[in-house]
Amino acid sequence: MAVDVLISQEKIAERVAEIGALINSEYAGKELVVIGILNGACLFTADLIRQINVPITLEFMSVSSYGEATKSSGNVKINLDCRNDIAGKHVLVVEDIVDTGLTMLKLRETLVGRGPASFKLASLLFKPARNLHKVEINYLAFEIEDKFVIGYGLDYAGKYRELPYIGVYSE
Ligand code: IMP
Ligand code: MG
Repeated sequence: MAVDVLISQEKIAERVAEIGALINSEYAGKELVVIGILNGACLFTADLIRQINVPITLEFMSVSSYGEATKSSGNVKINLDCRNDIAGKHVLVVEDIVDTGLTMLKLRETLVGRGPASFKLASLLFKPARNLHKVEINYLAFEIEDKFVIGYGLDYAGKYRELPYIGVYSE
């Protein structure tokens, strides 16, 4: 296999700092519940919260969506839920990538249904070419072409999440 570096470790760090600064100014004087989506957003979440200087509580969720075939089932499957009630709280979900958008659309519906004071989404990556379901990304680090990427939390068959950069995978 080969990996071409698409976004370097330095570029990621720069962008994460910019997004952190934006979050700090937009949530000044407020408290934030940050919900990292496992497993893909583990590194982005860990780096982003270290740039945030308003008080936060950190939660993690793990979700899977079944895709178009089982649209009738409505919601994402929640494999791991947050531990605390988010009603009345400012919620920031941190995701690795919005691809078709289905996962985030459904997760957003579920979380907004719990009555948070506000809901925002930070996503490391967005692939506009494959997007089917419009979901507002309030903080986007990078828009990318329609290529399968790995590293910085993203996997191919469970591997390569530990790479410090974002790369394009090829056999
Ligand atoms: P969506 O519901 O199609 O937006 O699915 C997004 C999910 O698919 C992400 O949370 C990733 O787990 C996975 N995914 C989509 N594109 C890629 C990629 O290029 N590399 C690794 N995982 C991806
Ligand atoms: Mg994911």
